[in-house]
Amino acid sequence: MERTKVTLRTLGERYKSETPITMVTAYDATFARLFDQAGVDTLLVGDSLGNVIQGQDTTLPVTLEDIIYHTRCVSRGARRAHIVADLPFLAYGTSLEDGIRSAGRLMKEGFAESVKLEGGEFNAELVHRLTQIGIPVVGHLGLTPQAYHVMGGYSVQGRGEDAAQRLLRDAKALQDAGAWAVVLEMVPAPLAKKVTEALHIPTIGIGAGPHTSGQVLVGYDLLGINDEFKPSFLKHYASLADVIRDAVRTYCDEVTAREYPDEKHSFSK
Ligand code: KIV
Repeated sequence: MERTKVTLRTLGERYKSETPITMVTAYDATFARLFDQAGVDTLLVGDSLGNVIQGQDTTLPVTLEDIIYHTRCVSRGARRAHIVADLPFLAYGTSLEDGIRSAGRLMKEGFAESVKLEGGEFNAELVHRLTQIGIPVVGHLGLTPQAYHVMGGYSVQGRGEDAAQRLLRDAKALQDAGAWAVVLEMVPAPLAKKVTEALHIPTIGIGAGPHTSGQVLVGYDLLGINDEFKPSFLKHYASLADVIRDAVRTYCDEVTAREYPDEKHSFSK
């Protein structure tokens, strides 16, 4: 396994050679280490931690402090992967200065190497300023969970000519402002293909079909830890929920039966 640090230069070379870029969300050092050892290119400290870690219904309550804390944890576990941290709801969008300060804190205190933000044209000036001062940016279009209430729920975005044109315009605006990649979430595969072909930066898809420059999944989802969450685009690469329940059930049974700890798992002196 290649152990050299993944940088934007590495990712740019991958994109040029048309090698798909891999991204997985991570929220702590242990999973970050395992995913890193498995060879993932980029680790995303997503605000999906609101759902996955905190048990919230949406990502809206996630704070900048939450993301800084989890990004710091991930940065301790990852040696190789490029670390992207999400700007959470209201940590940007209020003013240019708020957005710059929030992104700066993700880098300075969380040790993020890129930041991700939701939305297109509206964020162009912020993306431009961030890249100018040395903060690499990933955009996020299509289903943008921070706009849950505006969208009226979680559903496929970019359907219909107007919506598709808007998404294409937003993607180009992010690219022109200096974003190095754009996440496309829950958009029809033909539209994701069109956007990918129109850009000269990578697109990273989730529920966006096979034609994007890379793919991202939530780590807990791909491992089948959240086995109740089964959107049609998701593939479970393991069924860890069963493994975890079985292991803990066996532990409880053995403790109750006084089989654990046995002599082998005790200190004799
Ligand atoms: O927060 C997150 O995990 C994300 C991915 C789903 C792209 O934004």
